[in-house]
Amino acid sequence: MAEIRTVGVCGAGLMGNGIAQTCATAGLPVVLMEVAQTPLERGMGSIAKSLDTFVAKSKLSRSDADAIFARITPTTEVKKLKDCDLVIEAIVENAPTKIALFKQLDELLAPHAILCTNTSSLCVIELAAATQRPHRVAGLHFFNPVPIMKLVEVVKTIATTQDTIDELFAFGRKLGKEPILAQDTPGFIVNRLLVPYLLYAIRLYESGLASKEDIDKGMKLGCGYPMGPFELLDFVGLDTTYYIAQIMFDEFKDPMMAAPPLLKRMVLAGRYGRKSGKGFYDYA
Ligand code: CAA
Ligand code: NAD
Repeated sequence: MAEIRTVGVCGAGLMGNGIAQTCATAGLPVVLMEVAQTPLERGMGSIAKSLDTFVAKSKLSRSDADAIFARITPTTEVKKLKDCDLVIEAIVENAPTKIALFKQLDELLAPHAILCTNTSSLCVIELAAATQRPHRVAGLHFFNPVPIMKLVEVVKTIATTQDTIDELFAFGRKLGKEPILAQDTPGFIVNRLLVPYLLYAIRLYESGLASKEDIDKGMKLGCGYPMGPFELLDFVGLDTTYYIAQIMFDEFKDPMMAAPPLLKRMVLAGRYGRKSGKGFYDYA
């Protein structure tokens, strides 16, 4: 089994910065790549803030937090990823954009390197087919907030070899996560259940059944969920949820997976949730 010594992460958004932080916390050097300086700095700022929270709660010493931060090399150049044994892509949920990046990475990386996507809903085999190494391509689906959530879904396509899956299970455990095996169908295991639930909550709210506050309160106090559906939608990002819904509906043609009109309109209005300062709730 090849050892994963250096990890590359593409995208320093909500997921990418959490994945980079988690890998660096496990002692691995990380190269964090973004398209531009502004989102890169924002991502590094989120990592610093999260590490500060762990220090404040005495879960990390200041010197360990500083060492973790120093293990992450931020860059806007794809070529800096060339020596990575594993690259995890966590860029925008859009197939053509991901395919273009996979082609670039495939040309750049050593033949043994594994290429993973953190996609929530896209076909992993479509990304694998854009490379000359489909047997070394898989899904590695983390959950938000990555430094806290314990699960990682390892997604096997019809071309991924068992060796690759075994290496990714070992890697997931090294990060302190519990890996589960999922097949290459949109939404894998968790989002296949979670996304229809979130979309149905929007439909109920649109229908006038109850206020969003009461729906959230109902699911938190009645079912013990840590967040109600509208709090969670704002947390995940309404733009990302909208892209996921479109991809899942396109594949399954199940009306439960269709994006409700209100979700589309909120995305068109730029109300993406916490990351834009406004979604179902206000974060100004
Ligand atoms: N970095 C460091 N610490 C963090 C953190 C971060 N990014 N986010 C939360 N924490 C810590 C807090 O400091 C706190 O620590 P203590 O327990 O030591 O006090 C702990 O996590 C809990 O946080 P809070 O007390 O602030 O708030 P909370 O109790 O509501 O927990 C939460 C926050 C962990 C996010 C919790 O609300 C939760 O589990 N929410 C649901 C998250 C969820 O469902 N995620 C999956 C989304 S779906 C997905 O990711 C897949 C997809 O493809 C869309
Ligand atoms: P985000 O919008 O917060 O971040 C995406 C980042 O990718 C942006 O900073 C953008 O500048 C960057 N980017 C775009 N094109 C790039 C390129 N070619 N190279 C490098 N960086 C590029 O999105 P996110 O919520 O972090 O989602 C990222 C991926 O993770 C998506 O595939 C999404 O479906 C998946 N995902 C999201 C969640 C969630 O809760 N938000 C959970 C699990 C998986």
